[in-house]
Amino acid sequence: VIDWTARLARRARTTPDLIGGILALAGARDLINFSGGFPDPSLFATDVLGDLARKLIENDAAVALQYSSSEGIASTRAALADRLAATDGRRPADAELMVTSGGIDAITLIAKTMLDAGDVVVVEEPSYLGAVSGFMAFDPTLRGVPLDADGLDVEALAALLRTLPSPPKLVYTIPDFQNPSGHTLSVERRSALVDLCRRQGILIVEDVAYSQLGFDDAARPSLWSLGPDVVVQIGTFSKVFFPGVRLGWAVGPAAVVRQLSIAKQNSDQCAGALGQRMLEEYLRAGHLEQHLPVARALYRDRAAALTGALERHFDGLATWTVPRGGFFSWLRVPGVDTMALAEVARANKVAFVPGAGFFAEASDTEHLRLSYSRISESDIKEGVARLAAAVRSMRERQAS
Ligand SMILES: Cc1ncc(COP(=O)(O)O)c(C=O)c1O
Repeated sequence: VIDWTARLARRARTTPDLIGGILALAGARDLINFSGGFPDPSLFATDVLGDLARKLIENDAAVALQYSSSEGIASTRAALADRLAATDGRRPADAELMVTSGGIDAITLIAKTMLDAGDVVVVEEPSYLGAVSGFMAFDPTLRGVPLDADGLDVEALAALLRTLPSPPKLVYTIPDFQNPSGHTLSVERRSALVDLCRRQGILIVEDVAYSQLGFDDAARPSLWSLGPDVVVQIGTFSKVFFPGVRLGWAVGPAAVVRQLSIAKQNSDQCAGALGQRMLEEYLRAGHLEQHLPVARALYRDRAAALTGALERHFDGLATWTVPRGGFFSWLRVPGVDTMALAEVARANKVAFVPGAGFFAEASDTEHLRLSYSRISESDIKEGVARLAAAVRSMRERQAS
């Protein structure tokens, strides 16, 4: 037998399988699964989508079933530009916007385009593990900056920058309802971050994966709207449209976006045209606008069910963040190794993601992420009770 493992690239041998475990659990039926950041399938607009797909295949096959250009179909980009004008208050120029195959594709294109081995990338501690592993594939030096309830600590970032011999290439941030912490960057810190990075010539990668899923009406200017000259905003339609289509966008300085399109030529070349045309028609007909309040209300109710259950079962056992949008709450369970807890929890038929993988630099074993987006309120309550039982049994084991 040939030992293929020995033939793997060094990069592949050192890349941990962080997301595989989450996706492998996706279809599990026998447990209450707080692990993935999945949208709730009851929100998929199947009637509208079936109708749109049929009409496009009947009437627009030459475009919808064909390859598209790497930057995306022009009419789809125009619809996206209109949407950005509505959500961010700024309409990008044609050369500032491209369609990507989801958020992770946008992150990989940026890493491929911007990073030489050893370049410094700053990420929040903790941060989205898909992005961290996307950057890692290009051998950068990752540096972490802490977060608090007001998001990325911009003063801590400024202090880190003072210790570096040259500015980092990228600062990656998720300003709204962050994955995994649930925190949101304050308005004051948004301007401070853009000013700091502009002064030092650092490209900010703003990931707005959950920005449309806030539970209140507070206005939060996007970093890109504050600094279109120093920010590449990446977005995904996975959370608000459907992830089966793998669609997102990157919008930023034309010189960067042009290179991202070129980088796409040797990955998947272009995002799928059928999905792009479906999304475009969906946006133009106003379906997303109608749908978002329904989605926000569903996730808001689930977040409330989660925090209610945590108050009931975890008082004195853990602390947690109260979500104001998005899919996640982030727990700290003092004195408990959450990697080991995951095993005990699986036996209790409940799953979550241990926190360790979300840290780029710091080592942390006490955190875990709960996603409530795809679980009914009654299962949320039952799942939190099972998790609390798992924590108690671990504590008892440690004490004895
Ligand atoms: C913060 C963040 N960015 C990007 C993504 C990836 O999006 P996509 O599924 O479109 O690749 C996710 C998905 O979990 C996410 O949480």
